[in-house]
Amino acid sequence: MQDIIRQLEEKRAQAREGGGERRIANQHAKGKLTARERLELLLDEDSFEEWDMFVEHRCTDFGMESTHVPGDGVVTGYGTINGRLVFVFSQDFTVFGGSLSDAHAHKIAKVMDKALQVGAPVIGLNDSGGARIQEGVDSLAGYAEVFRRNVDGSGVIPQISMIMGPCAGGAVYSPAMTDFIFMVKDSSYMFVTGPDVVKTVTHETVTAEQLGGALTHAGKSGVSDMAYDNDVEALLMTRRFMDFLPSSNTEEPPVRPTDDRADREEPSLDTIVPPSPNKPYDMKEVIEKVVDERDFFEIQPDYAKNLVIGLARMEGRTVGVVANQPMVLAGCLDIDSSRKAARFVRFCDSFNIPIVTFVDVPGFLPGTTQEYGGIIEHGAKLLFAFTEATVPKVTVITRKAYGGAYDVMASKHLRGDVNYAWPSAEIAVMGPQGAVEIIFREDAKDPDKLAERTEEYRQKFANPFVAASRGFLDDVIMPHGTRRRVCNALAMLRNKKHTETWKKHTNIPL
Ligand code: HXC
Repeated sequence: MQDIIRQLEEKRAQAREGGGERRIANQHAKGKLTARERLELLLDEDSFEEWDMFVEHRCTDFGMESTHVPGDGVVTGYGTINGRLVFVFSQDFTVFGGSLSDAHAHKIAKVMDKALQVGAPVIGLNDSGGARIQEGVDSLAGYAEVFRRNVDGSGVIPQISMIMGPCAGGAVYSPAMTDFIFMVKDSSYMFVTGPDVVKTVTHETVTAEQLGGALTHAGKSGVSDMAYDNDVEALLMTRRFMDFLPSSNTEEPPVRPTDDRADREEPSLDTIVPPSPNKPYDMKEVIEKVVDERDFFEIQPDYAKNLVIGLARMEGRTVGVVANQPMVLAGCLDIDSSRKAARFVRFCDSFNIPIVTFVDVPGFLPGTTQEYGGIIEHGAKLLFAFTEATVPKVTVITRKAYGGAYDVMASKHLRGDVNYAWPSAEIAVMGPQGAVEIIFREDAKDPDKLAERTEEYRQKFANPFVAASRGFLDDVIMPHGTRRRVCNALAMLRNKKHTETWKKHTNIPL
């Protein structure tokens, strides 16, 4: 018995050592933590229950039969974040470069299966050289096992991918199918083909960082939701992020008690919209002044900045916020912002998170780039997503709501539950001057007549009352009372039920 216990301790120590001191030092030298250090920061103290510490690969090719490290390059198990259960896997770059073998893949699959059975999120910490080259197709099969589980879990349990080192080739597709991707600046990258292949095929010279670093994906491609400065920041922010999420699609999001009163008034909102309709203001200020304790977790802050998305709380309950941002492209909807918002709306709807939408949108961005890029299909994604969403939807029009974009932005017509507008709202087919130039083409040639007709159009449509008279708005509210009105609407909607006609699934324009 004593022998067995000694063996057990030795094996555990060996597993904890990973690839050994030299490789751990290399990992630290790159500014990265080890797989286990990361889990210590991510999970509550002493909450981690490790599984499969003794699993080893079964490869006998290329000398692999003599190189076994218990755990095989990935640390898996479960623990808690602020007391709530999560499943985790953390790839250990110090062991075979964190590469994915058949055994390694089955360890990941095991935690994903259990997470799905018990209804708890999976957080994957990715730091891997990709498919275990010595294992060939067994490794590819392992990836596919993980992919399948990503799909099975989609919309059932939240899945978060943290990219904390290399993630290349087909390996990128597992994170791509999860709900959120968080990257670390300077030490992580994701690409389908690396800089050398790019050079050979397209003759472009590009570094790994430029091609697939955190800033590239958080700012240019939109593949990553956040780019953090280092491992520690990424892990601590992920803990904060998880506090907003329900554990599964059968649960409501957690409620966090707050001292911020639901009827708190915010007088500064009465003057936030400038008198000139062409002047911008910061929609994030509006959001922060309305939500609990100004606590807004913005997602994709560096991508498609003309639209803001993120999580916040109202009366302690999580809400998803979608808002046009007049500071960027005047808040127009374009391809990137439509995709960004559509995916987020679908995430919220999957996980019972009510959606609060703030609207100030002059329309869709015109131009060949947008049309050739398929704005028709991409814009339709957002229209589709808002329409499909059956969670409580509360909308506040702060200023412009023009054209098709008015319809798209969670309007009453797409089953918006409660739709409000501020007195500064302008709800029309287009802006007054553009409208006059089309319907009074002759008058538009004379500046005086143009001004007169524009003023006439403004008087008629640049206000919320036409829409309110049709019942397309439930009320015109004072900006300072927005928090109270939105809180009341959400409380009223808490038991909302919606029955859909049976269908296998919709055919969203992908
Ligand atoms: C086995 C691997 C490995 C791999 C790295 N290692 N990648 N072992 N399979 N895929 C091992 C190395 O042999 C080395 O072992 C250790 O990990 C660290 O690697 P280094 O090269 O020393 O580290 P670094 O200089 O930091 O470079 C990291 C790297 C590089 C850029 C990731 O290792 C690399 O290019 N690896 C190969 C990447 C790749 O082509 N993977 C397959 C992609 S295709 P020692 O013993 O020396 O410490 C793919 C398909 C997925 O993944 C398909 C899904 C459908």
